[in-house]
Amino acid sequence: MYANAETAAPVTVPELRERKRRGEKIVAITCYDAGFARCVDEAGVDFVLVGDSLGMVVQGQSSTLPVTVDDVVYHTRLVARGLRRPLLVADLPFMSYRNAELALANSARLLAEGGAAMVKLEGAGWVCDVIDSLKRHEVPVCAHLGLTPQSVHMFGGYRVQGRGESAAARLKADALAVQEAGADALVLECVPAPLAADITRELRIPTIGIGAGVDCDGQVLVLYDLLGIATGKRPRFVKDFLQGRDSIAAAIAAYADEVRRGAFPTPAHSY
Ligand code: KIV
Repeated sequence: MYANAETAAPVTVPELRERKRRGEKIVAITCYDAGFARCVDEAGVDFVLVGDSLGMVVQGQSSTLPVTVDDVVYHTRLVARGLRRPLLVADLPFMSYRNAELALANSARLLAEGGAAMVKLEGAGWVCDVIDSLKRHEVPVCAHLGLTPQSVHMFGGYRVQGRGESAAARLKADALAVQEAGADALVLECVPAPLAADITRELRIPTIGIGAGVDCDGQVLVLYDLLGIATGKRPRFVKDFLQGRDSIAAAIAAYADEVRRGAFPTPAHSY
C-alpha cells in the first residue's frame, strides 16, 4: 500500500538511502508534463525522472542524443508544477556534462530553473570527477550504468551490458567507483539480474533497475512504455500496465503496487 500523497512527507535524497536500509522498494517512473505528474504523484510514486528519453517518446527522435539542456529544463519545470511528494530528478543530456564546469552550470539550471532536487548522468571513468565536483557543490547525483543510451553508437545498438565475466567485473567496479565519487543513487539499465543483485548487495546507495531484475532497491520504467503507448519494438523488460485496466491512474497504481511487493519485474522481464 502506498502512502497518501496529500499527507505523506516529501521524498528526500537522504530518504532514498533510508529506504534501502529498511528494505523498502523505491518506485520510480519517468514523466514529462504537469498532467501526468499529478497522476504519478497521486499513485504514490517516490522518484520521478525527467529523462532524456523525452527525445524519443515526446519529440519522436530516434535516440536521446538531440535532447538539449533547454528541453530538459522546460519539461522539468512542467513536471514540478504537478508534483507534491516524489523526489524530482532531471537528466543531464548528451555532452552537457563533458567537463566539471559545464556540468555545474547545467545542473544549476536543472535545480534552480527546473525545480529538480537531483541530476542524473551516465557513465563512470572520467564521469567520476564530474560527480565528485557536483557533490562538492551540493548537487545530489544519480549515476546511470549498464545500457547508457547516450553511448548507443559506441555499443552499436541498445544491447544488454555486463554479460560475461570481464564485462560484469568492469560494471561492478564502475558501480563502486560512482558510489565512491559521491553518487546518491544508481540506475542500472539492461544488466543481467544476478549481476544487478550482486551490485545492489555491495553498494550502500540504492540501485534503481530497468531491465535489471527484481533484486534492485527500486524500479524505473518510461511512462509511455508502462502505458503501452511507445512505438517500435517493445523491450523484454517493459510491461503494459494499462492492459486490463480502465484508467491511467489504475495502471500507474498497479505498477507502484507490483514494484513494492517485488512482483515486478518477473524473470520474463529480466535478463
Ligand atoms: O532517460 C530516461 O528516461 C532514463 C530512464 C530509462 C532510466 O534514463
